[in-house]
Amino acid sequence: MICLTLSSSTLDGCCGQIRRNRDYIDIAELRLDLLDGSEAEKASVFPAMAGIPVILTLRRVSDGGRCALSERARRQLLLAALDGDFAYVDIEEDVKKSEVEAKAREKGVKIIRSFHDFEGVPEDIYSRIHHLTERGDIAKAAVTPHSIHDVLMLFHVADELKDVPKIIVGMGEWGIPLRILYARTGSFLTFACDGEPVAPGQVSARDLKLLYRADRVDDRTAIYGVIGNPVLHTSSPAIHNPGFDVINYNAIYLPFLVDNIRHFFTLAEYLRMRGFSVTIPFKKDVLMYLGNITREVKQIGSCNTVVRVPGMWKGMNTDYYGFLRPILKDIEKGRIRNSLVIGAGGASQAIVWALRNMGVKVTILNRTLSRAESLAAVNLCEYDTLDNARNYEGQVDLIVQTTSVGLYPDFDANPIEGFRFTGREVVYDIIYKPKMTKLLKVAEEAGCTLHFGEEMLFEQGKLQFELFTGYHYPNGIHPLI
Ligand code: ATR
Repeated sequence: MICLTLSSSTLDGCCGQIRRNRDYIDIAELRLDLLDGSEAEKASVFPAMAGIPVILTLRRVSDGGRCALSERARRQLLLAALDGDFAYVDIEEDVKKSEVEAKAREKGVKIIRSFHDFEGVPEDIYSRIHHLTERGDIAKAAVTPHSIHDVLMLFHVADELKDVPKIIVGMGEWGIPLRILYARTGSFLTFACDGEPVAPGQVSARDLKLLYRADRVDDRTAIYGVIGNPVLHTSSPAIHNPGFDVINYNAIYLPFLVDNIRHFFTLAEYLRMRGFSVTIPFKKDVLMYLGNITREVKQIGSCNTVVRVPGMWKGMNTDYYGFLRPILKDIEKGRIRNSLVIGAGGASQAIVWALRNMGVKVTILNRTLSRAESLAAVNLCEYDTLDNARNYEGQVDLIVQTTSVGLYPDFDANPIEGFRFTGREVVYDIIYKPKMTKLLKVAEEAGCTLHFGEEMLFEQGKLQFELFTGYHYPNGIHPLI
């Protein structure tokens, strides 16, 4: 089940949150500690207003909530609320047998026994969950993983406790795979927020239901993902998940924040993942774990696509094709013969290789000359410093911007400030946030043809989808990148 955590300070406000998310959720959690005092006292009327099952929770400050009442006063408030027909009540691990528990049992309200750890994952998590199930109907462990290894361990623990009724919550940004794959952890429900997440690690009810289709994950669901650090801003789930849906493939694609590649490969094997995308900073680091790589990966020296083949992982590169696709016709028709590539970092490697592979002349311009020199040596092209950019005015058909200059939130930066375009150039900025960078604005004013980072992102994703599934990316999907 997808459970919406209600965060409004009034009961009417909470009802509004349920109405807004009604299509995405199965159950809601009323947090008495987030309500205004007078509203909390009236909480017993809420289940009748809600129209869906409701969990009653009054979280103490020590467990990450806002309730600062004495334990006695807290019990009184919960007891009063239990006059209403709540489906579940959350009682913390350390709370002794009380009238709250007795009243819940008498009314047939199920008891969730919970503990929270905001520091990490306790070593005795396994036995604690076990113990909780003896004292309630469902055990809830909300813990804070700090590495991909912690995430792996939590999937393990969940498997060990397969038949135990439980909820395992991974708090913070490391915990996102556990929240999205809650069905794989055998968790009875996953918690979701209303609207855009306000803290790292939250996932909206809408995304869980519509983007990830998390409630449809079962034992046969093929798991795909993207690894990176940072990775949570990635748009790739919006490309792959709708594609899976259209071709009727029981699969899910989600982000994995990663700190250690070796541990991630262990997790990937544990989850029997079928493939994943690789983003910064792991495009080189993955190479040593691959049993097979394509010619492009070997020559470019970086891999952005990994798929499972019998007995091993195979690495491919779709960045170079994603980049080329929007300008391929211009190259084939001879409209693009020579180019300037700004930047000599990881992203530039695939682009320089792609252009050279198509016979386009390339001059690499970089702030640090030595990096431009080494990339130029490998790809047999020219190089120069960024300061000399204006010497190339009117000399090239294509200008590609591959540095991070101009990237959100640095809207006003342009790596070749002052460069004068003739208007005949094709100008391609691989930054996709913002879509229209400062450089592209200047180029547009001069009448140049523009290409955007989101075109490259979408095209590389479409090819990746083919490698993942064996099917063409379906027509008619326009992901918001
Ligand atoms: P990526 O994998 O995104 O390409 P990278 O390998 O760190 O990241 O490369 C970043 C590129 O942006 C480099 O070409 C870098 O220039 P240097 O080699 O001189 O570092 C370029 N870059 C980053 N910040 C820059 C800035 N403020 N001005 C000019 N170039 C910049």
